[in-house]
Amino acid sequence: MKKMTIGKIQKQKGVKPLVMITAYDALFARLLSESADILLVGDSLNMSFGGNRDTLSTTIDQMIYHTNAVCNGAPEAFVITDMPFGSYSDEKTALDNAIRVYRQSAADAVKIEGGADKAHLVRHLVSNGIAVCGHIGLLPQAFRAEGGYKVKGKTEHEALQLINDAQAIEQAGAFILVIEGVKADVATRVAQSVSIPVIGIGAGNGVDGQVLVFSDMLGFYEPFVPKFVKQYINGAEAVKKAVQQYANEVQNRSFPDENHVY
Ligand code: KIV
Repeated sequence: MKKMTIGKIQKQKGVKPLVMITAYDALFARLLSESADILLVGDSLNMSFGGNRDTLSTTIDQMIYHTNAVCNGAPEAFVITDMPFGSYSDEKTALDNAIRVYRQSAADAVKIEGGADKAHLVRHLVSNGIAVCGHIGLLPQAFRAEGGYKVKGKTEHEALQLINDAQAIEQAGAFILVIEGVKADVATRVAQSVSIPVIGIGAGNGVDGQVLVFSDMLGFYEPFVPKFVKQYINGAEAVKKAVQQYANEVQNRSFPDENHVY
């Protein structure tokens, strides 16, 4: 994959949909980066990788560890790192943690969740040399406060609020925006209301690109499959089948055979 830049990413708006996918480790980062424009080290790793029920217990140290793994596996990839819950609660905290991400990894940008209420944080990071990706709509880090995952944009009031959020985040200097769990027609209006690329997840096909959690789209994450996820392979079945075959061959001593010994 040829290294993307912020300039190239922004030029793709209205020309070609952007392909973003999460990555948490070197092994998958190398594979995923062959077809993706952007790798997102999402704090969703706390669920699919860490086995937790939500993203809220993720730490900045974990994000830096996984970002390094991803950057090691895909050194040419454009990498965005999620700022975890509590790591951008005020301007100083946000900047201190974003600087840690930049100093201790090769991440190209950080992502923070929130709309107009977080625009001052985006502005503070951008004015201090940090590239920022916004994230509006359904906010996974609001899971406990909102009592679950709530689809947004169901009323005209919410639609106007989302457009206001997107414009505030753009004006604060974000170069790209993720919109999650929003009615498709509303997400399309949001994408049309700003000049930065708007990347959807569960937000329909009228936006400027798509992002999926890699373990969802490869069918590895079995506990829950959201409606918007398309599983391109059944990874869980493929893995279970392969390991079952390995177990059988170990038990009946057909592995290792003469091709797999020194
Ligand atoms: O953490 C994550 O994987 C994300 C995506 C859902 C956009 O933020």
